[in-house]
Amino acid sequence: MTTQTIAQLFDLTGKGAIVTGAAMGIGQAIASRLAEAGAGVMITDINPEAASQTVEQIMARGGKARAIHADATSADDANKAVEATVESFGRLDILVNNAGIYPFSPILEISEEMWNKVLDINLKGVYSYSQAAAREMVRAGHGGKIVNIASMEGLHPREQLAAYVASKGGMIMLTKAMALELATHNILINAIAPGGVWTPGTEALARQTEASGIPLEGAMDTYMARVPLGRFAEPDDVAKVVLFLASAAADYMTGSVLLVDGGFQLS
Ligand SMILES: NC(=O)c1ccc[n+]([C@@H]2O[C@H](COP(=O)([O-])OP(=O)(O)OC[C@H]3O[C@@H](n4cnc5c(N)ncnc54)[C@H](O)[C@@H]3O)[C@@H](O)[C@H]2O)c1
Repeated sequence: MTTQTIAQLFDLTGKGAIVTGAAMGIGQAIASRLAEAGAGVMITDINPEAASQTVEQIMARGGKARAIHADATSADDANKAVEATVESFGRLDILVNNAGIYPFSPILEISEEMWNKVLDINLKGVYSYSQAAAREMVRAGHGGKIVNIASMEGLHPREQLAAYVASKGGMIMLTKAMALELATHNILINAIAPGGVWTPGTEALARQTEASGIPLEGAMDTYMARVPLGRFAEPDDVAKVVLFLASAAADYMTGSVLLVDGGFQLS
């Protein structure tokens, strides 16, 4: 019988974490929550200005954070991010694969370039960063937690998102394959499948939709009619579940996929 208190379960003091694509949106909220719980957080992103602002915000609240320019598509950058995390915070315990893109296009019009870009960031990046992080966790011998930000569209397809659907479906199976293989090293790997979250990315998409002549209100109403909780998620709705999976409260979970979709799959 464990004697850890609830506060101890969620205390990440002394832990080192990487959050990819954490300069804004869901990644930013995840980095903030992990830092609030005491972890030192390495923010990896390709937008250095926004990444610095996120670091400043976290530090202003007393958290520990640093940023490194690291592309999710680069295995070299993954290794650099791991090295920088160990150098800055002493160790690497948590990786959150969050960086991702979701361009809309009918299947008949997806270019090879777009296909490759989506798969490179959303799927290959998860392999590169997870492998680099897991190698360090195995070397250090202390295990760790990897949380992959998938999507409800990785479980159920949606029109105009074939490359994204394929990438997130692949991410979910990669989560399970890695969880199976790395369990003996006490590296626990789980995925979260969010529904619609209001972020700079979805806001930009909404603006594009409007600009292409499709009335935004109608599209939003159609989506919202299928969300029993009646609202978009906020980035923090996802971040709180990441905190749970990264914490000792989830020490017997690996290979799971948690839906954070406001009940969308029920409708
Ligand atoms: N917003 C949603 O509705 C939603 C729903 C389900 C899943 N998701 C997933 O959540 C994740 C974050 O989505 P978001 O809406 O917060 O996105 P966002 O566009 O608001 O922010 C994405 C961040 O990732 C960074 N980024 C983009 N390409 C990168 C690259 N190659 N390397 C490193 N960083 C890169 C951007 O600079 C930005 O800081 C994505 O994986 C997305 O698929 C989002």
